[in-house]
Amino acid sequence: MTPGTVTPGTVTPGAVTLGAVTPGTVTPGTVTPGTVTPGTVTPSGPLPDPKRSLLPMTPNPTLRELVSPIEQRWSPYRFTPRPVEQEKLAQCFEAATWAASSFNEQPWRWIVATREQGDEFQKMLGCLMEANQAWAANAGALVLTAYRRTFSRNENPNRVALHDLGQAAAHLALQAAAIGLQVHQMAGVNLSQVRTEYQIPDEFEPATAIAIGYPETSEPSDEDARALAAREASARRRNPLSEHVFSQSWGRPVGWK
Ligand SMILES: Cc1cc2nc3c(=O)[nH]c(=O)nc-3n(C[C@H](O)[C@H](O)[C@H](O)COP(=O)(O)O)c2cc1C
Repeated sequence: MTPGTVTPGTVTPGAVTLGAVTPGTVTPGTVTPGTVTPGTVTPSGPLPDPKRSLLPMTPNPTLRELVSPIEQRWSPYRFTPRPVEQEKLAQCFEAATWAASSFNEQPWRWIVATREQGDEFQKMLGCLMEANQAWAANAGALVLTAYRRTFSRNENPNRVALHDLGQAAAHLALQAAAIGLQVHQMAGVNLSQVRTEYQIPDEFEPATAIAIGYPETSEPSDEDARALAAREASARRRNPLSEHVFSQSWGRPVGWK
């Protein structure tokens, strides 16, 4: 679909169908990440077995049928050093822009460096903690995030600005997953270095970094790559809803599986 050709309101919610998944038929951690080539996902029409055939990596072992990008999203430790098309990056950031935010403040800000930018990419890479630099160096693009601490309409503190940035980042990540990319978000960033290097104004707070790119799917060729591949291949686990969703009082599980 060409971006910009859809008139708002013309797409019927729920029109994208995935093949039926029977809860409990997928064992968490049994599918190896990176075994399917990115970009092969067909997000519409019934699929015979979306969990095992067409998804670009470990289909997340969800208990229920969820929208396709949520089933596909994961945080790679191995990217191919392949540039990301500018239009795909723009799609990801437009998706972020459509996130909800308190008073529609849109407090998020992003600084982007693509690997084609060479020195700019290296400058941003240098703002990451060393452990993150090791794998983020192969990303197609890096992003630094920041948020506005106060509302622009009255300068009152915006206590949900970080929440809104996170929600926009989630939009970005899901859009990326839907178009064959993946992102890996990072708290491990040298924030004071970011503030200085990029002259972030006082009313903005730098927050995180994001690596965007195409997951590496080839066999790891050296020890470092093998270690990263092992991290990617570990079982994907989530706590049960009963630990997060309460009813009537704090800590009392809502009772759903
Ligand atoms: C705000 C945020 C900060 C994170 N910081 C780091 C980080 O500094 N380094 C890292 O390797 N992973 C980082 N992660 C990735 C998480 O470890 C990862 O999302 C989590 O293990 C779940 O895995 P998944 O994204 O593949 O589902 C971060 C994720 C988020 C959302």
